[in-house]
Amino acid sequence: MAKIISGKEVSAKVRAEVKAECEQLKAKGIHPGLAVIIVGDDPASRVYVNNKKKACAEVGFVSEEYALPAETTQEELLALVEQLNNKPEINGILCQLPLPKHLDEKAVINAISPMKDVDAFHPSNVGRIMIGDYHFLPCTPAGVMEMVHSEGIEVSGKNCVVIGRSNIVGKPMAMLLLHENGTVTICHSRTQNLKEICSNADILVAAVGRPKFVKADMVKEGAVVLDVGINRDENGKLCGDVDFDEVAPKASYITPVPGGVGPMTIAMLMKNTLKAAKIQNFH
Ligand code: GUN
Repeated sequence: MAKIISGKEVSAKVRAEVKAECEQLKAKGIHPGLAVIIVGDDPASRVYVNNKKKACAEVGFVSEEYALPAETTQEELLALVEQLNNKPEINGILCQLPLPKHLDEKAVINAISPMKDVDAFHPSNVGRIMIGDYHFLPCTPAGVMEMVHSEGIEVSGKNCVVIGRSNIVGKPMAMLLLHENGTVTICHSRTQNLKEICSNADILVAAVGRPKFVKADMVKEGAVVLDVGINRDENGKLCGDVDFDEVAPKASYITPVPGGVGPMTIAMLMKNTLKAAKIQNFH
C-alpha cells in the first residue's frame, strides 16, 4: 500500500517557512505584496482567488484584489496590469485564468512584468526555465517537485512519465524532472501505447484533466504517482486524474485529491511572491 504524500502537511511547512522569512523582511521595512486580478464571475476562479488571498494573509503578505466585471475590455485590463507593473508596493501580479472569451490571455500574460510574474507564465520566464536559469518556477509543477523532495524520492535516472502537455503543467513539469536528471516521456491524447508507456514509469505525473483516468493496469508496482487533476466524479465528488482506490495499493507513494497537489500550488505562489519581493528590493 502506497504512502500518501499529504499536500496539506507539505504545504503548511512551505507556508511556515515563507511566513518566517516574511517577518524578517518586514523587520527591514519590506512588506511583500501580491495583486490578484479576476475578471468575471467564474465560480471556480472565485474559490481559487479567495484561497490565494487567505494564504497571503496567513504568511503576512499584503494582497490586493482587482475584481473586474466580465465586460472589461482588453484595453482596461492592460491598463490595470501596467499600473500594477509600476506600483512599488506590489511585488507579484497574478491574473486568474481563464479569462472571458473576448479577452486575449496571451497579450495579458505578455504585459505582466517578468519580475512580477509569480505564475511564471511570461515567455521570458518560460524560456528561462528551459535553460535552467530562472527566478520563478510555475506553481503547480514546483509544488509537485516539493512533494517529491519532501519524501527524499530520487529522480535521477528514473523513468518519469508525464501525462498531459499543457503550458501550465505538463511541459514545465517535464522540464523540472529533466533538470533533476529524470528520463522523461510526455504523453498526450495522440499517444499510442499509453498504457505500456505509463506502466514503465517509476514516477508518473497525471495532468490530463479527466476523472480517474489512470487505472491500476497503467501503473508499475512500486511507482510514485503524482496526481495534478481536480475533477468531479459521477457523483459530483472531487477526484483526481488517478483512480486512487485502484492505484494506491500498487504504488509506493501517491498524492490524494483533495489535499494533494492543490494546496501545494498556492504555497508555491507564496514562495514566488516572497522571492519577487526580495529580487525587487535587493537587486
Ligand atoms: N487558473 C488555473 N490555474 C491557474 C494558475 O496557476 N494561475 C492562474 N493565474 N490562473 C490559473
